[in-house]
Amino acid sequence: MAGGPIVLTSGAKEHPGKMTLFVFLTCLVASSGGLIFGYDIGISGGVTSMDSFLSRFFPSVYRQQMADSSTNQYCKFDSQLLTLFTSSLYVAALISSFLASTVTRVFGRKWSMFAGGITFLLGSAINGAAVNVLMLILGRVLLGIGIGFANQARAHSSVPLYLSEMAPAKLRGMLNIGFQLMITIGIFAANLINYGTASIEGGWGWRVSLGLAAVPAVIITVGSLVLPDTPNSLIERGYDDEAKAMLRKIRGTEDIQAEYGDLVAASAEAKSIDHPWSNILQRRYRPQLCMAILIPSFQQLTGINVIMFYAPVLFKTLGFGSEASLASAVISGIVNVFATFVSIATVDKLGRRKLFLQGGTQMLVSQLLVGTLIALKFGTTGVATGMSTNYASIIVLFICFYVAAFAWSWGPLGWLVPSEIFPLEIRSAGQSITVSVNMLFTFIIAQVFLTALCHLKFGLFYFFAGWVVIMTVFVALFLPETKNVPIEEIVLVWKKHWFWGKFISDDDIHVGNLEVAKHTIEAA
Ligand code: BGC
Repeated sequence: MAGGPIVLTSGAKEHPGKMTLFVFLTCLVASSGGLIFGYDIGISGGVTSMDSFLSRFFPSVYRQQMADSSTNQYCKFDSQLLTLFTSSLYVAALISSFLASTVTRVFGRKWSMFAGGITFLLGSAINGAAVNVLMLILGRVLLGIGIGFANQARAHSSVPLYLSEMAPAKLRGMLNIGFQLMITIGIFAANLINYGTASIEGGWGWRVSLGLAAVPAVIITVGSLVLPDTPNSLIERGYDDEAKAMLRKIRGTEDIQAEYGDLVAASAEAKSIDHPWSNILQRRYRPQLCMAILIPSFQQLTGINVIMFYAPVLFKTLGFGSEASLASAVISGIVNVFATFVSIATVDKLGRRKLFLQGGTQMLVSQLLVGTLIALKFGTTGVATGMSTNYASIIVLFICFYVAAFAWSWGPLGWLVPSEIFPLEIRSAGQSITVSVNMLFTFIIAQVFLTALCHLKFGLFYFFAGWVVIMTVFVALFLPETKNVPIEEIVLVWKKHWFWGKFISDDDIHVGNLEVAKHTIEAA
C-alpha cells in the first residue's frame, strides 16, 4: 500500500456484537494500566511536601522552606534534584516504550505488560526502602520503565488502542475514556494515601506512600496473565483460528465473518507497508502528523501537571500548612475523577469540539483568576502578607474549576482523539508519536515547574493561560469533529476540511480492499 491511495477498508457499518461480560472485564483489567500511571503522577508531589521526607533527602530545600515568610515564597522549592525525583520517570517511560515494542512483537502484548508489572514491583520496593536520593531516582526510573511496557507506544499496542481493538465499535469512545478514568482514580488514590500517611508518627509515612505503588503493579501483573491478546494481534502473528475464536468470545456472537474479514484485510495492508515511519511523512498525512504532535503537546501545555504533580507543594508555597496542602490535593483529586464522568456521558453526544472549546474557555478563566489572586497576595517579591482561610478557599475553588474543565476536555480527549484519527497504514507510527510527545512534555513540565515558578512567579499561570488561548483557537480552526465517524472513513473528514483538504488529493481516496480480505479468508 505504501505510495498507493488511502484505502477505506469498509463503508459505514456496524458489526454485530454486544457488551459481553468477558469484554467488560478484559477492558477493566487493561485500563488498570491507567491506575499505575495515575498513582505515580499523584504520589511524588505529596511526598515531597512531607517534612520528614524533605529533611532526609533534600535538606537544603527543607531549610529553605522552613525559612520565615519574609523571604521569597515562590522559590521555596526551587531544586532541580527535587524535580528530577518526579520527572525521571517520564524519560524512562519515553525510552522504554521503544524497547517494549520489540518485546511485544516477539512475545506478544501479554508478556510485555507482565514485564512492565514486574519492573513496577521492583521500582516500588526500591522506592519504599530508599536510603538515599539515588535509590529514590532509581526506583522512579524503574517505575517509568514499567509504564513504558504497560502503556507502550509501538505496534498499535498502547492501552488506549488495546481497548479500541477489543471494544465493539459503538462503545469505543466510552471504553477508551475508561483509561483516563483509571488515571484519575490512580491520582486520587495517591492523594488520599499521602494525606493518611503524612500523619504516621515517626516520619516514615512516605515509605508507605511510595511502596504502595506495588498494589496497582500487582493488579496489572496478575491481570496481564489472564488478559487475552486482541484478535488483531493474533492475526498479525499468524494465529488465525485463535483470532476467530477470540472474536466470537468478545462479541458474544457466531456472526463474526464480516469483522474478521476487515481485520484480516487491515493486517494484510499493515504488513505490506515497508516504511510506516516514512509513510506518515507523506503530504496527505500532514493533518494526522500535525495532530499526533500538537494534541499531546497542548494537553501538557494546559499546565495540568503543575496541579497533578505539585498541588501540595504549590499550596505549601501559598502558605497552607502541611495537612491543609495535602487535603486540598485530595479535593482537586476527587473533582478530577467525577468530572471525567461528564466526558464519558457527553463525548459521543456533544462531540469532541464542544468539549474542547468549553473546557478551554473554563480553564482560561480559572487560570487568569488564580494567577491574579496569587499576584494580589504575593506580588513580584513573593513575600507573604498572610492569607485568610476564605482567600485560600477561593484559590482552591478556582483550581478545582480548572481541573474539572481539563477532566472533561483535554484529559480524555488528549488520548481519545489521536487514537481515532489515524488510518491503519500509519496507526502504529502515529500512536507512537503521540505517546512519546506526551511523555516528553510531561517530563519537561515536571522538571522545570518549580524553577519556572521561582522566576515567572504568578506570571506562570498567565503563561499557561496563553497556551490555552492558542490551543482553543487551534481547535476552533483546525480540528474537525470526529464523533461517530468510523475510523476507516476519517479521511473524508480531513478531505472536507477547509484547510486540511488541500493536502489530500482526490486520487488519495479509494474505497475498499474488501477483495483482499475475501481472498485471504478463502485461502485460510
Ligand atoms: C494526562 C496526565 C495528567 C492526567 C490528569 C492525563 O490525560 O496525560 O498527564 O496528569 O490526565 O488527570
